[in-house]
Amino acid sequence: MIRSILIFGLMLICAGASAQTVLVTGSNRGIGLELVTQYAADGWDVIATSRSPADDDELQALAKMNANITIETLDVTDTIQIAALAEKYRGRPIDVLINNAGLLGGREGQDWGNLSADLFQQLMAVNVFGPMKVSEAFSANVALSKQKKIIVISSTIGSISRMQNPTPFPILATSKAAVNMAMRTVAMQLKDQGVTVAMLMPGVVRTRMSYQAGGMSLEEASEQTDFEFERAGTISAGESAARIIKVTASLDGSETGIFLNNDGSRVDW
Ligand SMILES: NC(=O)c1ccc[n+]([C@@H]2O[C@H](COP(=O)([O-])OP(=O)(O)OC[C@H]3O[C@@H](n4cnc5c(N)ncnc54)[C@H](OP(=O)(O)O)[C@@H]3O)[C@@H](O)[C@H]2O)c1
Repeated sequence: MIRSILIFGLMLICAGASAQTVLVTGSNRGIGLELVTQYAADGWDVIATSRSPADDDELQALAKMNANITIETLDVTDTIQIAALAEKYRGRPIDVLINNAGLLGGREGQDWGNLSADLFQQLMAVNVFGPMKVSEAFSANVALSKQKKIIVISSTIGSISRMQNPTPFPILATSKAAVNMAMRTVAMQLKDQGVTVAMLMPGVVRTRMSYQAGGMSLEEASEQTDFEFERAGTISAGESAARIIKVTASLDGSETGIFLNNDGSRVDW
């Protein structure tokens, strides 16, 4: 009896010691919500951030079922919120930081002849400065951890060499090319601390974003049935998250500042 209690106690201690932590931005839906679901199921401690948790029914329900999920408020464009959250977690190792939050932007403001300065500012703030600033704020937490990995969910639309034809999303494309450079600078900044930074292409994924790419408004996209979801992209958010987790796990620290597809292969800059 005493021996069994001791073994059980030892198992609990080992489980506690081996729990790793991931922080995900934009975790209330799409790829972010799936990342939270799968990391939590794998036993990770998950810091799931979202800009308006009170509205996030699915994320709240998930956290109720999983004690290892902690929900935090974070708008990645709000530098005061970023600093406050980093202060709250000061000294806590974060093995993997996933900068997932992103915006596609409407097609209207990206039409040639009608480029919107406001949309440009908004996409650069969310897609570029957000990941850069969040990475800066939590870099000490990542450096303290075992895995030491920072990921940004980029896109092949940000590949300069692949851009051979007009795109309906020139501002989005510009922001994704820019975030690759932003994260490359983060990689060089943190190289000496053993931190690995990677920009990952999630695939063409059936999320609200891919509906918007197809020309629907946010409202129309939100009302789609699962059947219509099937036509909107090539892989599910669950499949994309699984691939992102696998590629992230495979990063061995030998290189940093790399641009990878969801199968781990290189994407041309
Ligand atoms: N879907 C694809 O095919 C595809 C392809 C290439 C790259 N990506 C990238 O994958 C990432 C996830 O996209 P998704 O497909 O899952 O799209 P999604 O369903 O539209 O999710 C986007 C997420 O970003 C959050 N977000 C937007 N602005 C934010 C801000 N200022 N602060 C914090 N969170 C914010 C959204 O939160 P709210 O609910 O509060 O708006 C939402 O959680 C994005 O970076 C996207 O560019 C997607």
